[in-house]
Amino acid sequence: GLYAVIPAGGSGTRLWPLSRAGHPKFLHPLTGTDASLLQATVSRLLPLADPAQVFVVTGVAHAAAVSRQLAAVPEENILVEPSPRDSCAAIALAAAVIARHDPEAVMGAFAADHLIADGERFIGVIEEAMAGARKGLLMTLGITPTRPETGYGYVQCGGPIGQGSALAVEEFKEKPSYEVAEGYVKSGNYLWNAGMFVWRVDVFLSELARQQPQLHAGISRIAQAWDSSAREEVLGEVWPLLPRISVDYAVMEGAAAVGRVGTVPGDFGWNDVGDFHTLGEVLASDSAGNVVVGKDAMATPGVILRDSENLVVVPNSGRLVAVLGVRDLIVVDTPDAVLVCPRDRAQEVKSIVDELKEKG
Ligand code: GDD
Ligand code: MG
Repeated sequence: GLYAVIPAGGSGTRLWPLSRAGHPKFLHPLTGTDASLLQATVSRLLPLADPAQVFVVTGVAHAAAVSRQLAAVPEENILVEPSPRDSCAAIALAAAVIARHDPEAVMGAFAADHLIADGERFIGVIEEAMAGARKGLLMTLGITPTRPETGYGYVQCGGPIGQGSALAVEEFKEKPSYEVAEGYVKSGNYLWNAGMFVWRVDVFLSELARQQPQLHAGISRIAQAWDSSAREEVLGEVWPLLPRISVDYAVMEGAAAVGRVGTVPGDFGWNDVGDFHTLGEVLASDSAGNVVVGKDAMATPGVILRDSENLVVVPNSGRLVAVLGVRDLIVVDTPDAVLVCPRDRAQEVKSIVDELKEKG
C-alpha cells in the first residue's frame, strides 16, 4: 500500500478574505460539495492508502480542526508542528516517522489544497509513480502547462523509464522568472510540477541527508525521540532551528541534477485553487457563467444575482448577498471583510494581505 502524507500549512493569501491564518483554504469546502479540500484529498487517495496510512502534518492552531474533519485517520497520524518551517521540514518529519516501522515504505506527499476532477485517472497516475519510486526515483506528477505561471515548479522531460508513460527528468526548476517560464512553455518539453511527490522514504531521506544535512540531522533527532517521553521537549528544541525551505528547492532541484527524479505526465483535471478566478474556472457555473462557491453552493438562499454575468460569488457571512447589473467580478462576503475585484485581477488580492500585514 501507499503511505499518504499531506502537508497542510499554507494559508492561501490570494483567497483572502475567505482564507485566513486562522482558517486556511484546505479547511474550506471549495470543492463544490460539502467536503473541504483536505477531506477531498484524503477521500481520493483511499483506493491506495488505508486511513491508518494517512498522515497529516499541520500547525498547532489547525490540529483540532484537521482531526475533526478526518475522523477515520488515527489521532497519532496528525503530526503537529510547533511552527511553520515550510514544506520540506513537514514532509521530512512524516517520512522519518513512517521510516521508524517501515524504512522502505513508498510514500506520496500530496498538497492539501488542490482540486482534481478525474479521481480515477489520478489513481492510475499514482500507481505508475509508485512503480518509479520502487526503482529508487523521486517521482513527480507532471501537468501540461497552459501559461507561463511563475508560482509553479517545472520539470524538463527526458526519455521514457519503464513500460508506461513515466519519463526521466533532466531538470527541476522551482518558480522561474516570467521570461524563463515563457521559454519552457514554448519549448513544449516542460511540464508543471503538480506539487505531489511519490518516493521510497529511505531514498528521500538519503537525498535529504546529502543536500540538507542540517535539516536531516534535526529531523533524525526528533524521530529518535518520537516514541519516548522526550518527544515534545526535543521537538520544541530542534524544530524552530530547522531551515525554512520548501521541498522543491531543498531536495527536488538537486536530485534532478544528479538524475534521481522522474515524472508521470497526468491529465486528471488538476487545479491548485490559487485564487478566486481559477476556482471559478473549475466549479460548475449557471447559464450566465456565474459561480457561487460554498456549502450546497447553488441552493444558497442568501444570494440574488440579477442581470449579471461571469461572477464568482462567495457568500460566507450568513448575510444576503445581492449583485445587480455587473460582469466579470469576484464578490466575497465574510463576517468581517468584503472583497470586490475584477476576475482578471484575482492574483493581486495578495497585495491587500501584504498591506494588512504591514499595518499589523
Ligand atoms: N505542515 C506544513 N507546514 N505544510 C506546509 C508548510 C508548512 O510550513 N508550508 C507549505 N505547506 C504545504 C501546503 O499546505 C501545501 O499543501 C504544500 O505544502 C505546498 O506548499 P505551497 O506553499 O502551496 O507551495 P507552492 O504552491 O508555492 O508550490 C508548490 O506547489 C506547486 C503546485 O501548486 C511547489 O511544489 C511547486 O513546484 C508546484 O508547482
Ligand atoms: Mg500551493
